[in-house]
Amino acid sequence: MIIARTLPELNAAREALGPLGFVPTMGALHQGHLALVAAAGAAGKAVAASIFVNPTQFGPKDDFARYPRDEAGDLAKLESAGCALAWLPGVDIMYPPHGASSIHVAGPALHWEGAARPGHFAGVATVVAKLFGQIRPEAAYFGEKDWQQVQVVSRMVADLHLPVCIVPVPTVREPDGLAMSSRNAYLTAPERKAAPALHTALQHAVRDIIAGKEVAATLHHARQEVALAGMVPDYIALVHAETLEPAAALVRPARLIAAAKLGHVRLLDNVPAG
Ligand code: PAF
Repeated sequence: MIIARTLPELNAAREALGPLGFVPTMGALHQGHLALVAAAGAAGKAVAASIFVNPTQFGPKDDFARYPRDEAGDLAKLESAGCALAWLPGVDIMYPPHGASSIHVAGPALHWEGAARPGHFAGVATVVAKLFGQIRPEAAYFGEKDWQQVQVVSRMVADLHLPVCIVPVPTVREPDGLAMSSRNAYLTAPERKAAPALHTALQHAVRDIIAGKEVAATLHHARQEVALAGMVPDYIALVHAETLEPAAALVRPARLIAAAKLGHVRLLDNVPAG
């Protein structure tokens, strides 16, 4: 695996490798990331992954400074997953001193995580566009666990006519249903035990909505279920799967999305709803 840390190193590797599938990450890799690498590899191209903890997508109250970092462990995982190229740029490369451009996506970025974390999706869209410009991949792989992020990146790619195909990959879950996330490492033992209740509540709610129960009452019940498990629900919402607009009744395609605070950890999850 080639490890590139400067643009000349990246460009030399890029020339040698030909068409690429790309997996952008912030490191602290788990099975969910490795499923993205596997999906990219299965498409038959060489796989490039980036590791960059992007400061602009963290708010002032977020966990940028203590975000888990394990470069040596991550590189070993990428290498054994068959990655051909690891791109590890520094902040000076991604955000040079005279940089003056950023990307603001409206539409699917407006609600939910966009409302809870102002500036978050501008940070994501900007860094992803820069990474696409540097790597020039044919396809890029994103985990469905961050459903809204996938829709925001897809919207940006369509709006800016970027020549990359966005490939969503299903969420990888722990055996008890908890969606894998680098931030799960922050959970205490009792919190870790309680955490799968978010996914369970979503499963119950989607079952009830598909069975025809009233949406508002079902979502209210799901919030109660999550609160009973010791979490503070931020939102549990039925939305149009691509626009992320709230839906008062079942639309197609629909997604049930949720965020809840468990101790200091913000858990996200979502399931298809029709
Ligand atoms: O999902 C992530 O890990 C990040 O938001 C991403 C896409 C790597 C951009 O920093």
